[in-house]
Amino acid sequence: MAVSPVVFVPRGEDVVLPCSFTHPRQQHYSGMITVKWLARQSNAPPFFICSVRNESMEGKRGCAESQLKYSTYGDLRRGELSLLIRRVQLGDNGTFFCRVEMEGLLQHFQKETQLYVT
Ligand SMILES: *[C@@H]1O[C@H](CO)[C@@H](O)[C@H](O)[C@H]1NC(C)=O
Repeated sequence: MAVSPVVFVPRGEDVVLPCSFTHPRQQHYSGMITVKWLARQSNAPPFFICSVRNESMEGKRGCAESQLKYSTYGDLRRGELSLLIRRVQLGDNGTFFCRVEMEGLLQHFQKETQLYVT
């Protein structure tokens, strides 16, 4: 699992927090992929959740269409879990956690990013 440990963005701009993953059973995995983004605490309730079933590479990319403040940036089915935050405010400054969960795996994977709003 890979993230950018530190990301800088001027206030008012959009920012992408990069996050991606690979896993050993990738070639044959057709179950659910769930991405969760958390803020501040590593065990906080997620403020963003998106799931897709990895059965076809065609069609919609899932949660990337949203015009809301948060959306995914990329395709979960390709292991792209990055988060797009629109019009970043000073209050968005802080620690973010990218988490991925897969069906049949009790364990999850999580990594940390520092966002500095300048
Ligand atoms: C989803 O399935 C495709 C094969 O259909 C595979 O290439 C891809 O790696 C899978 N994605 C994940 C995240 O397991």
